[in-house]
Amino acid sequence: MSNIQEIKKRRTFAIISHPDAGKTTLTEKLLLFGGAIQTAGAVKSNKIKKTATSDFMEIEKQRGISVATSVMTFEYKDLLINILDTPGHKDFAEDTYRTLTAVDSVILVIDCVKGVEEQTERLMEVCRMRNTPVIIFINKLDREGQNPFDLLDELETKLNIRVRPLTWPINMGSDFKGVYSLYEQKLYFFKINKTKVESDVAEVSLDDENLDTLVGERDGNQLREDVELVEGVYDTFSEEAYQKGELAPVFFGSAINNFGVKELLDTFCQISPTPQPRPTDARKVEPTEPKFSGFIFKIHANLDPRHRDRIAFLRICSGKFERNKFYHHVRLDKDVRFASPFSFMASAKSVMEEGFPGDVVGLYDTGNFKIGDTLTEGEDLMFSGIPSFSPEIFKELINLDPMKSKQLEKGIQQLTDEGVAQLFTLDLGNRKIVGTVGELQFDVIQYRLEHEYGAKCRWVPMNTARACWITSDDKRKLDEFIRLKGNQIGYDKDRNPVFLAESEWMIRMNRDNNPDIQFHFTSEFKTETAV
Ligand code: G4P
Repeated sequence: MSNIQEIKKRRTFAIISHPDAGKTTLTEKLLLFGGAIQTAGAVKSNKIKKTATSDFMEIEKQRGISVATSVMTFEYKDLLINILDTPGHKDFAEDTYRTLTAVDSVILVIDCVKGVEEQTERLMEVCRMRNTPVIIFINKLDREGQNPFDLLDELETKLNIRVRPLTWPINMGSDFKGVYSLYEQKLYFFKINKTKVESDVAEVSLDDENLDTLVGERDGNQLREDVELVEGVYDTFSEEAYQKGELAPVFFGSAINNFGVKELLDTFCQISPTPQPRPTDARKVEPTEPKFSGFIFKIHANLDPRHRDRIAFLRICSGKFERNKFYHHVRLDKDVRFASPFSFMASAKSVMEEGFPGDVVGLYDTGNFKIGDTLTEGEDLMFSGIPSFSPEIFKELINLDPMKSKQLEKGIQQLTDEGVAQLFTLDLGNRKIVGTVGELQFDVIQYRLEHEYGAKCRWVPMNTARACWITSDDKRKLDEFIRLKGNQIGYDKDRNPVFLAESEWMIRMNRDNNPDIQFHFTSEFKTETAV
């Protein structure tokens, strides 16, 4: 098969949601369709969840939450689908943000009872930064949810994206009868028969009297009214607008009952983008280019607690990746090759002889990689759009055992390379400030420093609310600002100066008083959203 055919076959996406909206359940149902897992019905028993492929780390087992991001690959209708799993817990949101840099589209799951939740808004902001195409799945229709029109309004206002329903529900909760596909003009019935869900399909247009026989006159009329309103209020669905990330098609269903999932998957296969071009610091890289390139979006540590090995997740962006071939590690300016790269086919790791754009390759790493590292066939370019985001909680790392300061130094360096948290160093006294998006991260770091590096630490909370990368065209003014702010200035992993501000208000005030200094909320200044 030619490279172009391989590219056309691939779809790489992530499922995102606020915790508990049904991301795991939906993922499992998709894997069942793809034959990647065979355990239909085991979902309810929680078995798959607990032994899910993302369940790598000891700490994750202890806490029962998905710390790590993993990849699940399956074939469906001649397509090769890569689902990049994202941790649901909000404290690991940064992990999710980074995974979103490696996908070509997302499916967003919304709980119809709860509507748009906090984490959903944050995740969508990241999608919008990159114009990632989004399909929305409104889940749990078997529960009494909010009115579907209200839900759509909420999606549009809170997520700042135009929506277009492609299916429409007939009631919700105990009275839920199914969904009507506005495009296929088909009625998908939802019936629970004791424990089994039956899903019949009937081809029936809205003006067909049969509709009333099938769902009852009252619901038939309500459906006609609703659909008329939908057609009047919402633009017709445009694949192009979807692919540009401007319009999100919406599906209704119930993941746990496997209802509406197949329609979602089939539409996804039809409309979702193939591997897309990627920006770099030099030029745009097209997937169809013959030469290989890719970047590391995730580093996963300690699969086996007895060894300190790590796995770097590489997203292939162009060309063909081959086992045992030398590639150029741009940041280190050295050539590297991989004897046992692996893929995630059928939820088990298997050696990957070759890979194509859209694929994710697992590479064993002994400390050579950082998030954002680029591999090429020789060209000096770095993929962009993989920024660090301003953390929200800051604590100072205090070493509890002076004999172990080397181990602590190495440990915190490696953990921050992996992207577990961000490290800012204050020049005065070489103090280490760790910034995260969640409290849990501090427990994770403390645990891992002790168990993997033998270093004990404690945390001292800091009076810092936001970190802003600072730049200026006037070096003298920047130096002066740094000098004046003293120990409110830290340096990130690349020695970029960062202003550690007590509050948003402080940032605004400092920005107003220092017009020559620019304040940035992400480490990548070109793609930032301004303060
Ligand atoms: P997450 O990954 O987004 O955090 O959500 P997850 O799939 O774990 O689902 C969260 C809870 O919602 C689970 O219940 C799951 O069974 C339930 N759920 C998922 N889809 C539906 C649906 O369509 N309808 C209803 N009524 N519930 C749904 P749990 O009690 O937390 O776990 P479990 O013991 O059922 O596995």
